[in-house]
Amino acid sequence: MPRRLVTLMLLLGAASAPAAEDGALLYAQNCAACHLPDQMVVGPSLIEISKLYGKKPKEFVEWAIKPQKKRNNVIEMPSMGHLGEANLLAIREHMIRASQGLKEKKAALADPFARTPRRPEVQRIFLPNSGPAAIAVALPGDLAFCFDAGRCQLRSVWRGNFLKAWDYWKGNGKAQVVRDGEVVWEAAAEQPSPAVRFLGYTVDETGLPTFEYVRDGATFRETMTAAGKRLTRSFVVETDRPVELPVDPAAVASAGRRTQGLLRLTPAEARAFTLTLELR
Ligand code: HEC
Repeated sequence: MPRRLVTLMLLLGAASAPAAEDGALLYAQNCAACHLPDQMVVGPSLIEISKLYGKKPKEFVEWAIKPQKKRNNVIEMPSMGHLGEANLLAIREHMIRASQGLKEKKAALADPFARTPRRPEVQRIFLPNSGPAAIAVALPGDLAFCFDAGRCQLRSVWRGNFLKAWDYWKGNGKAQVVRDGEVVWEAAAEQPSPAVRFLGYTVDETGLPTFEYVRDGATFRETMTAAGKRLTRSFVVETDRPVELPVDPAAVASAGRRTQGLLRLTPAEARAFTLTLELR
């Protein structure tokens, strides 16, 4: 299995694994890319999984921790051991619930990410030019971005399909995941990097993620939304000191003062502000 993927999951799993009862969310974040409710895509459907494991919680957990090579013409499933037993059991219950009453459709064997999503989608994945803890997010419409959870920075924004991950999943970590589209914004290569700590992310009812991190002692919540040729980054910051953020010349800030590529905000200004990026 792709070794780099495991490392990434270990890195992020501990920091942001939600509570065990949230089976639907855990499924969406960790399994949905490869397991659809009623259709074999990369892996078997939830209908098939429920048939196999409807009465076998222990065996389900064993499989998810240490998947085997079982079917022909499929990739090896990556281990989901980082999620822990309680979370895996919650996912199993969700899988059974979500497949009830559905009928199996004809199998589709294709890249699960190469399409335009209708709702926000979050994938933890390796991408070029970002640290080992990249999180790729597709927004409704045709924009997607990469947030580097290691540096707690927006790295790039692209327009098109989401990701080309198929070669990567199949290639035991040799091939790279690539952004499937035209890059319309990229962070400057050298940015000042104060002490940061990624706390995880939450998703709202539409699936839109809000990233939480500590940057230079201040707690940030950052949410990206898209409208046409603009990407708006909305920040809510808890701090009792002024904060500084790298900002490119073309970005429009709703508050603060700029000096030499940095946006400086007082604690009151930082409480809620936006940075709007003009995209190519
Ligand atoms: C990168 C794609 C991928 C992801 C992500 C993924 N799986 Fe799988 N899964 C597969 C593939 C491929 C198979 C079939 C493997 C085989 O038959 O050799 C599979 C098979 C399974 C099976 C059936 C095992 C059997 O006995 O036939 C279960 C159960 C399962 N996955 C659970 C999960 C759970 C739970 C998650 C999320 C926590 C998950 N999978 C995430 C690709 C994935």
